[in-house]
Amino acid sequence: MKKQILVTGGAGNIGSHTVLALLENGYEPIIFDNFSNSNGAVIDRLALISGARIPVVTGDCCCLIDLQMVFKCFPNISGVIHFAAHKSVAESVANPMKYYSNNIVSLTNVMKLCRDHLIRNIVFSSSAAVYGESDQSPIVETQGMGKPASPYALTKQFGERVLEMAVEGGDGIKALGLRYFNPVGAHPSGLIGEDPLGPPANLVPVLMDAVTGRRPSLQVFGTDYDTRDGSCIRDYLHVSDLADAHVCALNHLFQTSETNYWNVFNIGTGRGSTVFEIIEAFEAVTNMKVPILPAGRREGDLREVYADVTKAKTILGWKASRSLALALEDGWRWHLQAQNGTTVPERGNGGNVSVA
Ligand code: WQD
Repeated sequence: MKKQILVTGGAGNIGSHTVLALLENGYEPIIFDNFSNSNGAVIDRLALISGARIPVVTGDCCCLIDLQMVFKCFPNISGVIHFAAHKSVAESVANPMKYYSNNIVSLTNVMKLCRDHLIRNIVFSSSAAVYGESDQSPIVETQGMGKPASPYALTKQFGERVLEMAVEGGDGIKALGLRYFNPVGAHPSGLIGEDPLGPPANLVPVLMDAVTGRRPSLQVFGTDYDTRDGSCIRDYLHVSDLADAHVCALNHLFQTSETNYWNVFNIGTGRGSTVFEIIEAFEAVTNMKVPILPAGRREGDLREVYADVTKAKTILGWKASRSLALALEDGWRWHLQAQNGTTVPERGNGGNVSVA
């Protein structure tokens, strides 16, 4: 019997890639999403890519009744991967209460129902943002949390703490926090990828918009940092590698004999790339020219942030395997497909429970 895994936010960018990774590794994912920041067409594209019929429940993690419906329809869920959250740093600064209420209530609702239904295995979508304004890279997990740079980061810190205390409280929960660095790229099919309903703010989607003319240029936020070329350094990993990390995390939870277990892991490549190096890599892969505009530093940006990934390798047996060039190539294919219109008819979000 395949283990059923509830994937909240499973229609999102990382969530949809993780759904594919779960299917490829013998799990049976169930998507729960309110489609507030994802395109319903992704469900049909997942079916197209995988050939699988993926159960989808439309609902909001902040609504206990919606969530209870999932557990009623699927009484044999073995674990939960909780992605569902707002994730824009800038938006969280502009509207902190939206982030506190959504990101915290959604998690506590999921935890409550896991407890009520004796589901012991939870993987939490956390972020390198929990390290706050520490400028010491490579960042190691034992470094602990710093002062959060945004309300978004604070919600991720809160989420980790709540899960850690639930484990310490002896609820019999086994939970892991995966601290993502900078996911980029897309599934090689070009059918799923970063598809925010609003304008992107992250480097690679903005870069691609500049290349396709949706933006006049890519502003390089800061060229006077103390780095090898003056631009900021980040740890960019292929979103499919990130998806695989969630499978390794679930495998680890199911194999761990401990009844109360909490752990956190950096999920990155362990290598840093500057903004100019990303631009150069993109131009080399696509043979396209990126129109750039050197600009002032962006508030809140750190000079250098990349991961020490020793722990994920030794305990989860996970290591990023896809190159930056492949991530940029796959991301560009997705960007062109998404810009030239969908290849799969738009899917209505009507109805609560459906199977793709
Ligand atoms: C990367 C680099 C910018 C845009 C954010 C969140 C983090 C995580 C990943 C959720 C920086 C530079 C960017 C542009 C630029 N999200 N840049 N011009 O800020 O490292 O991390 O996304 O977990 O929590 O904070 O990613 O892609 O915004 O920026 O020069 O138009 O690219 O200055 O150095 P960031 P980013």
